[in-house]
Amino acid sequence: MQQAREWIQSAASVAVLTGAGISAESGIPTFRGPGGVWRSFRPEELATPQAFARDPKLVWEWYDWRRGLIAEAQPNAGHHALAELEARAARFTLITQNVDGLHDRAGSRNILKLHGDIWNVRCQSCGRERRDLRPKLPELPPRCDCGGLLRPGVVWFGEALPPEVWERAEAAAGAAEVLLVAGTSAVVYPAAGLVPYARQAGAKVIEVNVDETAFSHLVDCSLRGPAGQILPRLIS
Ligand code: APR
Repeated sequence: MQQAREWIQSAASVAVLTGAGISAESGIPTFRGPGGVWRSFRPEELATPQAFARDPKLVWEWYDWRRGLIAEAQPNAGHHALAELEARAARFTLITQNVDGLHDRAGSRNILKLHGDIWNVRCQSCGRERRDLRPKLPELPPRCDCGGLLRPGVVWFGEALPPEVWERAEAAAGAAEVLLVAGTSAVVYPAAGLVPYARQAGAKVIEVNVDETAFSHLVDCSLRGPAGQILPRLIS
C-alpha cells in the first residue's frame, strides 16, 4: 500500500478506471456479483438493442428499478476519495464504466463516461437526448414529445462507445504515469483494454478490488479489499 501511495503522490498524471464495484458500498448491486440478476435476467440479456426492440417495457422496468435505487443511494468514501485525488493531482482523468452518476455527485469533474448515463434518455425517432432525473417514470416505456420511443442514454452490449469519449479515455490512459483501477471485473471490452494499454505505455497500474480479476497478476500493485476503505487510505 505504501508503494502505491508514493506512486500516486509523485505522479504528474493520474488516470482512474472505475466499475460497478465502487458503487457497491452505496447499495447498488454490481452486474456479476450477488444481486446482479434482476427477475432472473442477467445484464447481458437486458442491456442490448435486441432486448429493447423485443420488449421495451421489460428493459425499461429494469432501468426504472435501477434509477429508483440510485436516486436513494449516496456516493461513498471511495467516490469522495477520487474527487479529493482529482483536486490534488496535476493532471487527472476519471474514466468510468458506471452510469449511476455517483462520481458527479461526489464532486468529480473530469469524468469520461464510457457507457453513458442512466439519467439521460434519447428518442429512437427524433434522436433528441435530454436529462430526466425522475426516479420513477410515470409510464413505461416513456415516450418523446414527438411520439417516438425513448431509450436510456447508455451504451448497450454490441453498441459502439461514444467515439470522442473513447479517444479521450485512450489518450488519458496512454499518458498516465499511474492508472488506478477500482471495482471492475475487467471482463467487458473495450473498457478493460485500457489496463494493458496503460501498462504498455509505461504506467504503474494499481488495482483495488475485493476479489482477484483477470488483471490481478498483471498489475504493479493489487490491493484486496473494498474501495470505500482502501481508496481513502491510498490517497491520504
Ligand atoms: N470494492 C471494490 N471492488 C468491488 C467491491 C467493493 N466494495 N464490490 C465488488 N467489487 C468488484 C467485484 O469483485 C468485481 O470485480 O467490482 C467488480 C464488479 O464487476 P462487474 O459487476 O462485472 O461490474 P463492471 O466491471 O463495472 O462491469 C463492466 O459490464 O454489464 C456491463 O456496462 C456494464 O459497465 C458495466 C460493464
